[in-house]
Amino acid sequence: MKSLKILSILLIVAFLAAGCGAKAPAELKVAVLAPLSGPVPTFGNSTRDGFLLAVEEWNAKGGVLGMTVVPVVEDSQCTPDPAVNAANKVINQDGVHYIIGEVCSKASIPVSEIANAAGVIQISPTSTNPSVTVDANGVTKGYIFRACFIDPFQGLVGAKFAAENLGAKTAFLMVDQANDYVKGLAEAFKTSFTALGGTIVGEESYTANDTDFSAILAKVADANPDVIYLPDYYNIVNLAAKQAKEKGITAPFMGGDGWDSTDLDVVAAAGGYFTNHYSAEDPRPEVQNFVAAYTAKYGSTPDALATLAYDATNLMFQAITEAGADDTAKVKAALEAITFNGVSGTIKFDASHNPIKSATILKVTADGVKFEAVVNP
Ligand code: PHE
Repeated sequence: MKSLKILSILLIVAFLAAGCGAKAPAELKVAVLAPLSGPVPTFGNSTRDGFLLAVEEWNAKGGVLGMTVVPVVEDSQCTPDPAVNAANKVINQDGVHYIIGEVCSKASIPVSEIANAAGVIQISPTSTNPSVTVDANGVTKGYIFRACFIDPFQGLVGAKFAAENLGAKTAFLMVDQANDYVKGLAEAFKTSFTALGGTIVGEESYTANDTDFSAILAKVADANPDVIYLPDYYNIVNLAAKQAKEKGITAPFMGGDGWDSTDLDVVAAAGGYFTNHYSAEDPRPEVQNFVAAYTAKYGSTPDALATLAYDATNLMFQAITEAGADDTAKVKAALEAITFNGVSGTIKFDASHNPIKSATILKVTADGVKFEAVVNP
């Protein structure tokens, strides 16, 4: 009797072990390329955290098509060469078919060439330059998508706000000509501001390594513009805005989504405005549920980068689910037809793989960044 019992237990154990071995869950590797080091580390940390929250939530509900998602995190530094190396590594060594990233347009553009040629799906959460998804001949890169609006729209929204809400008649542009994002957004602002009857009273260039903006700011003081448009990342904004205040320049600075950082110097930039993708103060339940889940996990409020990385990752997983297979040609087709309800808004792609989404205007005060307005396309 006893030996029969032991035998049956052994049989059950053997049966379970064999069953588990045969049914080891399949894995789905997904990479995030984010600037964890380099000039803008807050962009990378937020992007990684939004991505990992989405991965964790999908794995908790059984994975994607039953596959466990295995995240691959790479530091791409907001810089072309490290980003290209990271893309080649995840595609060729890790065998990844899906990439979330990069953040910065100048890194996402070269990555898009590699991913598209390899038939790997890339969704940039936040790169707003048109050339991320479209090549020099205007042809859409089939496997490349983004979760954000593009800079011709962002520049228009900034210009309209300057002209109509601030009553600005003149603007001064500060531009890093080597940064695709800064250059493209400055161009878009200039076109729209001029079309609205405004005048650009000065345009000066600097480089990403500059730390002393006094020569340019002397010209700004002479031109006495109503607004100074500086569509760069927070690290440059911090330096230039502080030096402008020290020089007694009172015209507000304006910029784009690149200002969005917990490290933005809000005292230096106080009085300024920037266009962005989202505000954590938005009362929509999608936003408030996400803010609660993110805050519970990380202890901080999600910025636009975290939110768009979360949206881009969920968008990727919804598309793979709709495609019904880990097959990038099918996932590409699913993305082209998708309606995705994200935290940052609804995403449906146009022929250039860009979603049409609204923009938010935020005001910088010494007490922090405040919601000002939403502008629809
Ligand atoms: N839009 C920026 C770019 O294309 C990246 C960015 C997005 C930075 C959102 C901050 C917030 O380079």
